Amino acid sequence: MTAASPNNPIDIAELLAFYASAGVDEALEDTPVNRFAEAKPKQAERAPAQAAIARESMPLERPASEPGFETGRAAERPAASTGLDASQVPDAPRRPTLTTATVPDEGQIKLARQLAASASTLDELRQQMAAFDGCNLKFTAKNLVFADGNPNADLMLVGEAPGRDEDLEGLPFVGRSGRLLDSMLAAIGLDRTSAYIANVIPWRPPGNRTPTLHETEICRPFIERQIELVNPKVLVNLGGPSAKTLLNTTEGILRLRGNWRVHTTQSGIAIPAMPTLHPAYLLRTPAHKKLAWRDFLEVKAKLRALG
Ligand code: URA
Repeated sequence: MTAASPNNPIDIAELLAFYASAGVDEALEDTPVNRFAEAKPKQAERAPAQAAIARESMPLERPASEPGFETGRAAERPAASTGLDASQVPDAPRRPTLTTATVPDEGQIKLARQLAASASTLDELRQQMAAFDGCNLKFTAKNLVFADGNPNADLMLVGEAPGRDEDLEGLPFVGRSGRLLDSMLAAIGLDRTSAYIANVIPWRPPGNRTPTLHETEICRPFIERQIELVNPKVLVNLGGPSAKTLLNTTEGILRLRGNWRVHTTQSGIAIPAMPTLHPAYLLRTPAHKKLAWRDFLEVKAKLRALG
């Protein structure tokens, strides 16, 4: 593909088709930015603190060594390979430079805490979240993905963040991984009338990128309050990010899974929590479905024991 001319509708259509096939489905800024033309400061020239902020705020490209089993997101991310060399690649959004990196804003985290604490019902919490403008993800998402299922259920499952299908429908786990999750629930005799499902992050990260630590901390008070208001007998953490955020641990999901932990709410209620593998990971690694099956049997037994 040659460089598109802004005046030629065929070029523009081709360019848009390229973006769509590369999974670029969000316009983030009105003016396109040519990242290739920007001079990047060398890592060594950055102040250490700046580099740390940059690392935290630039999650689009992961290290090649990252195993990818912590999260379900890679399975739902479109293939990155285009077969084009750099000179042929148009100015698709790439990782932000230091000048666009956001500095963590404690104020938004504090506001989220206050709003979450002030909600005394799930409906109020949903309204507070819908009105909250402190998380940048809200502005690229189509919908708030609050929850699905039965808020009176004994079991609550929490994933990481909505993907494309969830964003379009405004409901968690409705895409491929959602269908697998439904089968996993059915295997222990449950469905969405007997389980409640939500995510740590209620807005889809653009391009299904991994949410930043800052985005997670801003959204944390909302999911913590949601758990507190549902007050399930048992919590299931679907994937590493949910387990790490809600169980306050840095351990990887392959170590965590299958072992009971405790999620303690802000008001001090201890809820037994089972970390397990994310359905999207299981779609990529079907051999590990047997591990998730064992975890779900544990959950079934716990629910039975707790009556
Ligand atoms: N993955 C998640 O973690 N949550 C969803 O809602 C969908 C996919």
